[in-house]
Parts: sequence; C-alpha cells; structure tokens
Amino acid sequence: MQRRFALLFPLVVFSLVFSLHLQGQDKSTDAQGHPWWQHAVFYEIYPRSFMDSNNDGIGDLNGIASKLDYLQALGVDAIWIAPCFPSPQVDFGYDVSDYENIDKMYGTLADFDRLEKLGRQHGIKIILDFVVNHTSDQHPWFIESRSSRDNPKRDWYIWRDGKAQNLPPNNWLSTFGGSAWQWDSKTTQYYYHYFYPQQPDRNWRNPAVSTAMYGVTTWWYKRGVAGFRLDAVDTLFEDPNLKDNPLLPGKNAYGDPNMENKYNDKLPEVHDVMKGLRKAAYPYGAVLIGETWTKDVSELKDYYGTNHDELQMPMDLMLTKLKFSAQIFREHMGAVNASGEWPTWVISNHDIVRSWNRYGDGKHNDEIAKDMAAMYLTLRGTPIMYYGEEIGMQNNDPTRPEDVKDPIGRRGWPREKGRDGERTPMQWNDTPNAGFTTGIPWNPIPVTYQTYNVADELKDPNSILNWYKALLALRHKDPALLEGEYIALNQDDPNVLSYLRKTKNEAILVAINMSDNQQKVSFDLTKEGVALGKSNTLLTNQINLRNIATISSVTLEPFAVYIAKVE
Ligand code: GLC
Ligand code: CA
Repeated sequence: MQRRFALLFPLVVFSLVFSLHLQGQDKSTDAQGHPWWQHAVFYEIYPRSFMDSNNDGIGDLNGIASKLDYLQALGVDAIWIAPCFPSPQVDFGYDVSDYENIDKMYGTLADFDRLEKLGRQHGIKIILDFVVNHTSDQHPWFIESRSSRDNPKRDWYIWRDGKAQNLPPNNWLSTFGGSAWQWDSKTTQYYYHYFYPQQPDRNWRNPAVSTAMYGVTTWWYKRGVAGFRLDAVDTLFEDPNLKDNPLLPGKNAYGDPNMENKYNDKLPEVHDVMKGLRKAAYPYGAVLIGETWTKDVSELKDYYGTNHDELQMPMDLMLTKLKFSAQIFREHMGAVNASGEWPTWVISNHDIVRSWNRYGDGKHNDEIAKDMAAMYLTLRGTPIMYYGEEIGMQNNDPTRPEDVKDPIGRRGWPREKGRDGERTPMQWNDTPNAGFTTGIPWNPIPVTYQTYNVADELKDPNSILNWYKALLALRHKDPALLEGEYIALNQDDPNVLSYLRKTKNEAILVAINMSDNQQKVSFDLTKEGVALGKSNTLLTNQINLRNIATISSVTLEPFAVYIAKVE
C-alpha cells in the first residue's frame, strides 16, 4: 500500500505541475505542446454540394457521413461545414434563422449527432460556421426587434432614423449592392445590413447580444463541435456616429460608387468579441478560425490577439489574391514567417473562383494545381482545403443571367456572375450527375466531371487526387513538415520556390519549379547546418528525381516538384 503511494506520488506532482504549465494554452495539446489543430488538415465542405443522400438534388449531412471513409483516406482531420442551420437560404445558409438546429434540407439534429460520432470514429472533427455579423430577417430575434420601437429586442439590431425624408442615415453601401440601410415602414426607421437586406446586422454593442451569441457556441461545444469558422468578422462594428465613408473613383459591379469602408469595417472593437468568443471556446479546447480578409500581414497578426487570446487560426486569405509566381509567394511567406505566428493557409473557398482556374495559366492548370498543393501543404502552418480542389475541380460559371442562383450574380451581371461557379456538386465518378445525386442537382455540374472525378483519379497514379494523398500522408508522418521552421532558400531565383523545413533532428527540402521552362538549381545548405548535401527523395512528380542522392545540382522540368530529406 505504502509503496504504491510512494510510486504514485511523484506522478501526481508531475501531472499537477504539467497541468499548471498548460494553463496558458488550449486543452488537448500533445506531448510537445502542440494543440491538435496545428497538426491537422482542415477541409471545407459546402453542404449543398458535397453528397446528396436522399436524391432531392441538394447535399446533406447524411451525405457527408457517407463520405467520411473517403475523407479519412485522403488525410483530412477536420471538416468545416458551411452553414447547415435553418435558413430561408437567401444567402444559401449565411442567413440563419435558428442557431441551434439543423435545416430540414440538410437533415436533423440527430443526423448531426450521428455525423459527429462517426466523425470521431474516423478521426475527423467537426467545425461549424458561425455567422456572427448578422442573422436572417426571419430569425425570431429580428422579427421581435422589428415589431415595435420599444420591443426589448429592438436594440439587438441597428435601427436609426433617416437623415431626412427618404434619405438613409448615411452613405454606407451594402457589399452586395445598394444602400446598407433598409427602410421599415412599420416602425418608420431604417435598419442596417452590410450584406443582403435579409441579413440585418446585429448590434454587438449590446451586451445581451454577446451573451446570447457566446451561449450559442457553448451549446454546440457541448454537442461535440471542435470549433467554429467565424463568418465575416471584419464587419461586426460600425462607427456610432455613422460618419459617411469616403468615396473612391469609379463604380463597382452593381453600379454603386466605389467606397472606402472606413467607418463600418475592422473597427478595433472587433477584437473584444474575438476575445469573448475565445473565452467561451477555452474550456472545450475549441479552435476559432476567422474569415479574415486583411490587407497585410500586420493586420492578420492583430487577429491572433496581443496575448494570443483571440483567434488561433485567422485565415491568410491574402494568398488567394496573389499571382502564381515563385517570387511573389516567397515574398509573402517571408512576411508571414517574420510575424512569428502560426499561419493558416487557404487557396480557395466558396466565395472565390476555384484555385484551378485562379492560379492556372490556361495551359498547365493541372500541373499548377499540383504545384500549389505541394506548396501550401508543406509550409509551416495549418492548411484548409476546399472540397473538390483535390481532384482539380473547375469553376462552372453560369452563361446566362437567368441561370444565376446567387443573388449577387443577378444583381451584378455581367461583371459579377455570382458564386455558383465555385459551388458546384462534388464530382465522385463519371456516372450521370457525377454520382452526387440521382435527382436534379441544384447547381449544374461541368462536363469536365467525366475526367476530373474521384473514382477515375483514384485509379490514375498521376492524378491530382493521388498527388494530394501522397502530400498529405507525408505531411502527417513527418515531424519537420509538421512543425519544423521555415527557411527560404535561393531567394533570388525568380522561377523556383525553394525552402527548408527544419527541426533539430531533421531537414526537408522543398523545391517547386513554378515556370514552364526547365530550371537548373543547386543548393548549398552549409549555412543551415546541412553540410553534406546528401538527399533522399520523399516525393516528386519527375521520375528521374526519384533516385538522385545529392542536391548540389538538380534539373527541374517545367512545374516539377522535388521534396527530399537532406543530411
Ligand atoms: C461570408 C461568407 C459568404 C457570405 C457572407 C455573408 O463572406 O463566406 O458566403 O455571403 O459572409 O454572410
Ligand atoms: Ca438531399
């Protein structure tokens, strides 16, 4: 008895000290102190378009559940599901009318619980999408708020008198076109909406709003959700004096004057909400991912919080705006690295043209898709993939305005065609409707599904899909890729992006020829403590590089990727 106690005692002290040590961090860190999300690969699912289980033409939660084997085999550790809550679907779910339920078209809460449980069995965590800026105009809170000027929920939204008769309170514009103010004849005031009029902005200055919203996140954490992607966080606050925004030259796709959103975008108060959400996430070890459109790395850094008490994963969406170029990427990586934060890499999502089209040059898009994957899946940081990117899915934009589903595409046609093109159904195989549904898909599938689909690509060793699988497998098992530092190499090379990922014990070289010409490169890594220059190829898409043993001179064919362990 005594002996056993003696043995246990140091253990108890140790774990006490250890848990005290962890207090500044999230729960569920691994032995090296890495929270789970730093080693994870995230995958965004647009639920309408992933897999339809009941053949009504719209994807659903049971459809997602039926594809967990695929996601696990691909190497995905967490899925972020775009909003699947009850919604009138004006903005395809980004207009939420009930935050604590599932929309019937996607299933039930029981389906969600089943998905969460199955996810756990597959090692796949669930991240939900939290629409923080606004609700649907059909949300009971807004219905109440709208009902009278003295309703207790009136101040949950932003109501103001007009400047004069028929004149909104100021010149602010909705990012989806037209004035940001909607007249309400019943209570003869305007309410504010940064997005569609059916998406009234919450009044985050009202503490009752923040309490209710933090409560919603807790409700889902208790249901097993591992974190949230926070929608449109930049626009949570507005200048209380409603100062007019400065106008800029020219007009946008909706015919509105261009405007600098100086008084209704990225107000400093946003950071208080990020801190509040983080506090609510803390007891659950949950992760917060931000839809953070930032102009530079310093603005991105702010979203982590000065005391690391805001978002763990503010998305680097700047990468999506860069041109495919070794030099441009290197410069950006350098700035990100210098900020010292843990990056969150994103190359596409449901709001922007697919990466295959955006980075592609029109001739070598498949090769470029592989280069992009090789880059962002081997950088230091956490990647978030977008469904279908791994099979080279392409945008399928409507060609006639009457076919457009996304309202901004109707309003902005032809300059703004909307976002239908990047939200088409996942291409599972070459049967009709790409195996997504036997009904009529809600959004048409491009003919390219006959060659770009999961089933066919699994059979082709050179497919984009197998390239992703190989990269993800490598990333998961290699400590240098998981947590090694990033060291830029050959910084003057305009064509080949090269870097080392290095831990104390190991170094991995990544070299990507981003040009359509053959490039000869050599690496001298003595400065980096890798004196011998001996190499062991881990992954390449160029056969004759599989067996090279030194990196003093390497010939890279157009768009070739070479990843090797170096000594
Ligand atoms: C975010 C979403 C986008 C949506 C908007 C309004 O930008 O990603 O799809 O339309 O917020 O909620
Ligand atoms: Ca369905």
